[in-house]
Amino acid sequence: MAVETQGLRRRGLEKTSVPGHKSGPAVSLENPNSKYPLPPFPEQHAMLGQQIRRTGDELCANLPILDSATIGPGAMFMDRSSNQRSLLDSVLDSFEATPDARLREIIKSLVEHLHHLVAEVRLSHEEWQKGIEFLTAVGKKCTPERQEFMLLSDVLGISSAVDVANDMHPEATPGTVLGPYYIADSPQRANGASLIDTDDGGPHLRVHGVVSDVSGNPIPQARVDVWSCASNGLYPAQDPAQAPTNLRGLIAADLQGRFEFTVLRPHNYSIPMDGPVGELMRSTLRSPMRAAHVHMIVSAAGYHGVTTHLFDGECKYLSADSVFSTREPLVRRFSKDSAGQLTATFDVRLMELDPLKSQVPLPRQ
Ligand code: BEZ
Ligand code: FE
Repeated sequence: MAVETQGLRRRGLEKTSVPGHKSGPAVSLENPNSKYPLPPFPEQHAMLGQQIRRTGDELCANLPILDSATIGPGAMFMDRSSNQRSLLDSVLDSFEATPDARLREIIKSLVEHLHHLVAEVRLSHEEWQKGIEFLTAVGKKCTPERQEFMLLSDVLGISSAVDVANDMHPEATPGTVLGPYYIADSPQRANGASLIDTDDGGPHLRVHGVVSDVSGNPIPQARVDVWSCASNGLYPAQDPAQAPTNLRGLIAADLQGRFEFTVLRPHNYSIPMDGPVGELMRSTLRSPMRAAHVHMIVSAAGYHGVTTHLFDGECKYLSADSVFSTREPLVRRFSKDSAGQLTATFDVRLMELDPLKSQVPLPRQ
């Protein structure tokens, strides 16, 4: 079965032919010069000279379908796809004079994708209005402490897509989402210190590793900024029972790049669900759970820093993380050392800032 027909069937849009009316040629929305390959638009291909059964068309069900072959070339007003294409072209042209080339590229691509979305799902006015209301609610939920747009980006996988798009080297430690619970100015802690200021009785986890470049050469005195949740899955900002500095700390690695700290074993937890993103998660039956993790930002002069997680390899949400941030190289199975202490080794590799000075070959595009 042709892909187009499948699409129509799926959406209940089977074509019926109208006696006495010729079928027009299939029309494509696709701009052959577009940089962005697009999904097929079954409906667009089926429009000319054919009747499409769908709720919004029912009023017109008994009207003859006019096409360019019937009433001449001036009848292109009937051709939705070409109207959409020329509308899109006008909008794209309107950005042509944007002086910043990167802004021009991004805004044109955004417009192109959004127009194609509207055409592909044939967005109704009511649906469009609902979308505007949803985005307005997301904006209204934002405060200096709460970034609902970022949460939306997280649950749509956009934050993780940006992380993946910015992977620098196959050997570099991959990045993951920052999340809303990062607080700058964590207390300086001695290398090897415990970051547990409020012990809730849960298991302790000792994390140690080496910060190196992508070839494995240690980077002396890298900075490791750590934050993590308590055994109840809450961060100190969410839980008055915890000291504000609990499970937070800034550690300087030693001259061999070695670092070590102790936290409580992290627990899985739910993302904030009391806003419009929570409503979206509920109405789409999505799980709000995050896989258990310890956050780290690792940085060093002359290197790209990385915002990343150490994931607990035993967490049941590893493959169902609500913000799609699980990355295989970041997952560790914790083990017990000779003293019975739960331990994880987490080496971090950073990419040099100036690849021209680096001896390391860059990955091929
Ligand atoms: C977090 O890891 O802290 C987090 C990330 C994204 C959304 C919510 C929480
Ligand atoms: Fe987190």
